[in-house]
Amino acid sequence: MNISFSGKVALVAGGTGGLGRAVSLAFLEEGARVLVTYRREEEYTALQSAAGPHAAALEGHRVDITEELTVAAFVSDALAQHGRLDAVVNTIGGYAGGIKLWELETRVLDAMLLLNLRSGFTLARAVLPLLLKQGYGSIVNVAAKAAVDHAAGASAYAASKAAAVALMDSLAGDTRGTGVRVNSILPSIIDTPANRQAMPNADFASWPKPEEIAQVILFLCSDAAKTIHGAALPVYGNR
Ligand SMILES: NC(=O)c1ccc[n+]([C@@H]2O[C@H](COP(=O)([O-])OP(=O)(O)OC[C@H]3O[C@@H](n4cnc5c(N)ncnc54)[C@H](OP(=O)(O)O)[C@@H]3O)[C@@H](O)[C@H]2O)c1
Repeated sequence: MNISFSGKVALVAGGTGGLGRAVSLAFLEEGARVLVTYRREEEYTALQSAAGPHAAALEGHRVDITEELTVAAFVSDALAQHGRLDAVVNTIGGYAGGIKLWELETRVLDAMLLLNLRSGFTLARAVLPLLLKQGYGSIVNVAAKAAVDHAAGASAYAASKAAAVALMDSLAGDTRGTGVRVNSILPSIIDTPANRQAMPNADFASWPKPEEIAQVILFLCSDAAKTIHGAALPVYGNR
């Protein structure tokens, strides 16, 4: 199976985060030119170091996904410079849980919708004119198991992730027949440093690793997955 991205350009939004970093490194490993958005300079510097010999193929852009004009300008610059975009992965997101709905502040709901729903919307709107013109490209939006498994105490998070899946599902309908593929993935708890710190007594071995999920994302972005469109793929592992 060929999942090489040699000569291709991948955009990883949130590409320095717990999962995003693994996705960025995996694309680099497979030969892609990788454009990442980040907010904190030190995280981008750390990614550059981790990229080692591939660092020359890495390009960082400080972009706040809530600023639509900045996102549009970033995408248009990327197009001017590279002339193509083959894979677009949105790993931007946030979590709020452990609180009952009647104790939840409205601003938390707004924050969840902004990070988990509007991020994918803004990014997709910015890249789609190019992808449609190319007649080619793959979008993967990272949702969560919570999109389909609505646990107590996570109403805002679950609703925002469910809406993100619905958004991508409908977009998949919009792009049918265009050559542009759109899919979501649904991770459960990922083995990130932040989760280890937040849940020190958990069984870390039962959590899928960011690198394992990154491989699924690369597969979805590759031509090997050209028959997969409009899916919301669980990546929970089997433990
Ligand atoms: N970790 C899990 O267990 C888990 C489980 C299920 C689903 N997910 C989903 O998987 C995705 C990645 O999770 P993660 O654990 O890698 O999260 P993370 O480490 O917090 O990474 C999220 C990334 O998004 C960036 N970001 C946040 N707000 C932004 C904004 N307004 N503009 C631009 N970038 C922004 C963050 O930048 P800063 O670091 O600068 O804030 C960070 O790079 C998210 O969608 C998350 O909901 C995660």
